[in-house]
Amino acid sequence: MSDLGHRFTDCAIIVTGAGSGIGRATVERLVAEGARVVAVDLLPDRLSTLTDEVAGEIVPLAVDITEPAAASAILEAAGPQVDGLANVAGIMDGFEPTAEIDDATWDRVLAVNLTAMMRLTRAVLPGMVERGRGSIVNVGSEAGQRGSAAGTPYTTSKHAVNGFTRSTAFFYTPKGVRCNAVAPGPVATNIEAPFRSEWAQQRLGPLFQTNIPAVARPEELASAIAWLLSDDASNVSGSVLSVDGGWAAI
Ligand SMILES: NC(=O)c1ccc[n+]([C@@H]2O[C@H](COP(=O)([O-])OP(=O)(O)OC[C@H]3O[C@@H](n4cnc5c(N)ncnc54)[C@H](O)[C@@H]3O)[C@@H](O)[C@H]2O)c1
Repeated sequence: MSDLGHRFTDCAIIVTGAGSGIGRATVERLVAEGARVVAVDLLPDRLSTLTDEVAGEIVPLAVDITEPAAASAILEAAGPQVDGLANVAGIMDGFEPTAEIDDATWDRVLAVNLTAMMRLTRAVLPGMVERGRGSIVNVGSEAGQRGSAAGTPYTTSKHAVNGFTRSTAFFYTPKGVRCNAVAPGPVATNIEAPFRSEWAQQRLGPLFQTNIPAVARPEELASAIAWLLSDDASNVSGSVLSVDGGWAAI
């Protein structure tokens, strides 16, 4: 896994959110470097487009990762050896400040962005520990670094992703399994982020106009995710890597 350009030969890697944006770019990068990828997404049409358009060993699996049975279905599709897991799937909120949160948005955002990530990570860990190697990369957000990048549900979920990442790294790095996160700034994808709150618009609008760096291409996130998945990052675990055009430095 160390030969740059062929780092994932003979590796099986699971990617969630594989049908669009950062997840899709990650699949493209990994198969180009020799991986067999289990590509997971809620939307079967996006997976069909992916397998039509991208050459390489891709096993598509249309499943809602919040379903309790999803993790075992994904593991079954992957087979006995899972070398890597990229937890990419995620959804935004409607920029709701705390007093305006509805339970449905809170529950869904936490279920997709956090609980599903925990369940799938929990499912792959025993095999990785048994073989003494594995790499897990979680997609966080600039909203995991500050309180001024999204609504409260999304911000809460992405801060929790950082804690989940660090705790997982703490417990499993000695057993050969690394766990890291990337924290993107704005990226050109299909993610929906409707402003549902007037107060949030007033409060965040001026910040967004002045502080946000240029919108990145999904490939710019995929390269960082692939690096963390690879043995090139063999001494990196428990880190949250800002891949945000410098936003975290502001
Ligand atoms: N785009 C950005 O500006 C940005 C910034 C920071 C963080 N992120 C994070 O990047 C990750 C990827 O987002 P993206 O921007 O590529 O979005 P995207 O909407 O383009 O892609 C996300 C994919 O995840 C899938 N998905 C959503 N819910 C799912 C579920 N329950 N089960 C299975 N699949 C599901 C969607 O169908 C979609 O294809 C997310 O975790 C997001 O929070 C994105």
